[in-house]
Amino acid sequence: MKLILKFVIPLIIVLGIIGAMMVPVMDLVTQRWFIKDLELRSQLVTNTLQESLQPLLLTKGRERKSKIQALLDKVAQDERILAMGYCDANNVLEFKTILFPADLACQDIPTDPQTSANTPLPLMTKTLKGGRFSITATPLVALSVEAEGASSVAVGLSRLIIVHDLSVAERRSGDTRNYLIALILIIGVVTSLVAVLVARWSRKEWMNSMRTLLNEVRKPSLADNLVAPQHQEFQPILRDIKNLMRDLEDNRAISDDLQLHWTPQKLREILSTELSGDEVIVVSNRQPYIHSRVGDQIEVHFPASGLVTAMEPIVRACSGVWVAHGNGSADREVVDERDRVKVPPDNPQYEIHRVWLSKEEELGYYYGFSNEGLWPLCHIAHTRPIFRGSDWEEYVKVNQKFADAVVRDARSADPVVLIQDYHFALLPQMIRAQLPQATIITFWHIPWPNQEVFGICPWREAILEGLLGSTIMGFHTRYHADNFIDTVDRFLESRIERETSSISYNGKITLVRPYPISIEWPPRWLAEVPPGPECLQRIHARDNIPEGILIGIGVDRLDYTKGIVERFRAIERLLEKHPEWIGQFSFVQIAAPSRSSLPAYQHFDAEVRAMAEQINIKYGDGRYQPIILKIEHHEPVDVFQYFRAAVLCLVSSLHDGMNLVAKEYLSARDDEQGVLILSMFAGASRELTEALIVNPYDIEQCAEALHVALSMPASEQRERMHAMRSYVSEFNIFRWAGRMLLDAATVRRKNRFALKLSSLGANAPQLKELS
Ligand code: F6P
Repeated sequence: MKLILKFVIPLIIVLGIIGAMMVPVMDLVTQRWFIKDLELRSQLVTNTLQESLQPLLLTKGRERKSKIQALLDKVAQDERILAMGYCDANNVLEFKTILFPADLACQDIPTDPQTSANTPLPLMTKTLKGGRFSITATPLVALSVEAEGASSVAVGLSRLIIVHDLSVAERRSGDTRNYLIALILIIGVVTSLVAVLVARWSRKEWMNSMRTLLNEVRKPSLADNLVAPQHQEFQPILRDIKNLMRDLEDNRAISDDLQLHWTPQKLREILSTELSGDEVIVVSNRQPYIHSRVGDQIEVHFPASGLVTAMEPIVRACSGVWVAHGNGSADREVVDERDRVKVPPDNPQYEIHRVWLSKEEELGYYYGFSNEGLWPLCHIAHTRPIFRGSDWEEYVKVNQKFADAVVRDARSADPVVLIQDYHFALLPQMIRAQLPQATIITFWHIPWPNQEVFGICPWREAILEGLLGSTIMGFHTRYHADNFIDTVDRFLESRIERETSSISYNGKITLVRPYPISIEWPPRWLAEVPPGPECLQRIHARDNIPEGILIGIGVDRLDYTKGIVERFRAIERLLEKHPEWIGQFSFVQIAAPSRSSLPAYQHFDAEVRAMAEQINIKYGDGRYQPIILKIEHHEPVDVFQYFRAAVLCLVSSLHDGMNLVAKEYLSARDDEQGVLILSMFAGASRELTEALIVNPYDIEQCAEALHVALSMPASEQRERMHAMRSYVSEFNIFRWAGRMLLDAATVRRKNRFALKLSSLGANAPQLKELS
């Protein structure tokens, strides 16, 4: 169907253009042809008539009139002649047939003294009461006989008038035009259908012959039962052919993807059609809903986490199982005997399978190896990574614990497992050891450093080997995916195919792909958020901000990678350089406490508080505060109120995989107002190019960006906001997940095919290369 449209639509356009050019030409040609025809016909009629008419004109008596009238009436019966008339030498209309136009007189038909008798004057057209007519007048020599027996003498020129109805010509010309258009269309449609059928047939034939060739070349020798290829001479071109076929299939997948409008429904359809309803298991450290005991109440919180923001709508759409660390104080109270709880609490759609960790495990695996080791290692934020042997041991133990939980959850031998982030670098290989047929997609939510930096990690090979248990390894950007490939290249004996971005290690292939993460569109929280002016009012009241003061917003975990200190410096510099904003602009920084038992985070907390205080003392007064620092957890609905109220959002990460706050700010601004200032070191800056992109270390530049944002005309804000909102609405989280699941489905299909072939005796290791 798509192929047909691809042919038919351009064809219709081309035919339309050809038709538009040809129709006037055809009209002209038909008209000319018709006029010529009329002139010839008039000539013919005149010549034929003349012989009978002249003698009658010379007769006298009562019969003369009736005979001439009868003659003219007879000729006028020709369907192409409307009427006949005769103007005598005195220019009086002596005879006329019944349809002769009443308002046409001999005087209206000009004569030409130069014209000789019996030659029709050029055809003239006249618009009269009854319509448009063409008239030919042929001069005849008017004769007179004065006495009986005397010969006739010429007394002047009379005229024979033939009137044609022009509407006949116009009708004919219209008919010809319609036939022509219909003909062009029929030829066009038939041609394009034939072309489409031939193209499809040729492509199918070509693919079949290529497959036959590939199979022929691979077929083991029956005589000696060798698994080596028979036709070694074909090997060099085989690789090219395989790549070409892969490209063709990839291109088809991409164009299919582009034509989809990504929604939860579409994602569900992909799961049931492409993955035949296979189960989806998500694994992450952070859980999407945390149950906490507050007095005698149990409260449910949604954590501040980009990962959770992105994954939650996906798991809801897939109705999968989410395996995560149960870290809430009331988590154990709400689970069933299999440690599961149905969520979201108000409308359950999937289950969280909570894994319990001891204090030592949490300290070593989460705080230690993950957040004091890998986190600073992967971010260029100038905090040294700390690698302890004891942390590593806990990390290995906890990864195994989660692997066992996933295997217990799996209802089939080949589930689709989506592993999230750096907490689980060993998990892919551990799951693969127990479920070799599983499709494991690992997504690394943070940057991947270059190989030199990664080489700092004492367990680098084990981590890389662990990750290469994945079927697909995903990163936010191509840059991070390439860093990963370079790192494997440097530290492991593997085969890397750069052009297909795949790594073959221990006979197993891992595809390495960029999948830029996104958000649900529109985020479900927005339904509960009032319009901008009301949000602004509430925030002014809640945070004691005087009326009329513009608000800027920053929302982050309290983390040293987020550039919060640099952000405050930029605000300080803005007020220094542009004092007109003092008392006019306040920046609200929401900072969710995070990993607060770690010294690096405690120092950072102190630094941020001190800096805010210092700026407030310098530029604030009892009533006005330039920085409103809110180090506390905020539920998404509250955060979205700030987004709607703020004239600008400042994301100044020193290094960030993607940063979803940037995308959430856009999603809240359905009024298409507000300015996003975005760090060039956040993955989001590759996509949101209409933001004001800044280097967070360049304080002058950031201060200037703040000034530009505060002074930006509404029309420019609208233009930028509109472009970014359209982008994110299209490249939403369902597309992110859908793209990965489609790739997973392709790999699964190929693997199943390879398995089938290998069971028929084909060369399995070679077939693996196809995946
Ligand atoms: O996006 C990176 C990430 O570390 C996620 O893995 C994590 O859920 C989020 O930030 C918040 O961190 P934490 O779970 O340690 O509070």
